[in-house]
Amino acid sequence: MPVRPGRRRPYPRPVPDAAFADPRLAPLYDPLDPDRSDLDHYATLVDELGARTVLDVGCGTGTFACLLASRGLDVVGVDPARASLDVARGKPCADAVTWIEGDATTLPPLAVDLATMTGNVAQVFVTDEAWAATLAGVARAVRPGGHLVLETRVPERRAWLEWDRAHTHDVTELDGVGRVETWTEVTEVRDDVVSFRSTYVLGPAHEVLTSDSTLRFRSLAQVTASLGAAGLDVVDVREAPDRPGREHVVVARRRPDRAAS
Ligand SMILES: C[S@@+](CC[C@H](N)C(=O)[O-])C[C@H]1O[C@@H](n2cnc3c(N)ncnc32)[C@H](O)[C@@H]1O
Repeated sequence: MPVRPGRRRPYPRPVPDAAFADPRLAPLYDPLDPDRSDLDHYATLVDELGARTVLDVGCGTGTFACLLASRGLDVVGVDPARASLDVARGKPCADAVTWIEGDATTLPPLAVDLATMTGNVAQVFVTDEAWAATLAGVARAVRPGGHLVLETRVPERRAWLEWDRAHTHDVTELDGVGRVETWTEVTEVRDDVVSFRSTYVLGPAHEVLTSDSTLRFRSLAQVTASLGAAGLDVVDVREAPDRPGREHVVVARRRPDRAAS
C-alpha cells in the first residue's frame, strides 16, 4: 500500500515500554509468548467483515500483520517502538507489509476497510487525550462504513490481582539467550489505571532488565462513548474465545459522515 507523509502529532510522542522498545527485550516478545491463538479470532473477523485492506495499530513485532499479508491482504502496521518494528521487518513476510514507525495520530492518508488493535493495545492509551487522538486518527484512516476491531480487558475481572510473582514467574530456555526468568509485579493501582513492572533475568550472566507499564481499564460504556465521539459506532461486542469472560472484543463501524456524536 503506497503511503505518503503523515500528519503532525497532536499529543506528546508516545514512549513505548522497554518490553517493546528496548532492542534487548523486543526480540524476546514472540519467543516468550509463542502461542498466538488469540489472533485466530481476529483473522476470522477480518474474513467476516470482508476486509481486504487492514491497518494494524500497535502492530508490535508484526505477527498479525504478517498473518494477514500471507493471506494476500494489503496491510499497514504502525507502532512507535522501533525495536519491535525491527523484529517485524526481519520476518519472512515483512516485504509484503507497509511498516510505519509512529502512531495513529500521524498516519499518512489511508482509506482501509478495517483497523485492528490486538493484544490489548487499546489499554496503553492512558489519558483521555491520547485515546481520543488515537481514535480520531483511526477514524480518519478507515473508509466510511469500514470497521475498527479492538480488545480490552474486562475491568470487573481485575486481572491485575494475579499480576504478582507467584502467578507470573516463568523460566524459558531461548536459543541464543539461554535461560530467561520473567515475572510481573503491580506497582500501583489508581482508579482504573494499573502500573506494573516486568522483570527479565537473562542468560548465564543473569543480566536484569525491567520494563514499566501502565494500562487503563476502561469500562465498556467508556469505550463505547469514546468510540462514538470519534464517529465509530459500536455494532458488536464479543468474547475473546481463548480468554472467555476476560475480554471485550469490540467491533465499531465508521459513520459515513464521520460526524461526532
Ligand atoms: C502488548 S503489545 C501488542 C502488540 C501486537 N498488537 C500483538 O498483538 O502482539 C502493545 C503494543 O502497543 C504499542 N504502543 C504503545 N504506545 C502506542 C501508541 N501510542 N500507538 C500505537 N501503538 C502503541 C507498543 O509499542 C506495543 O507494540
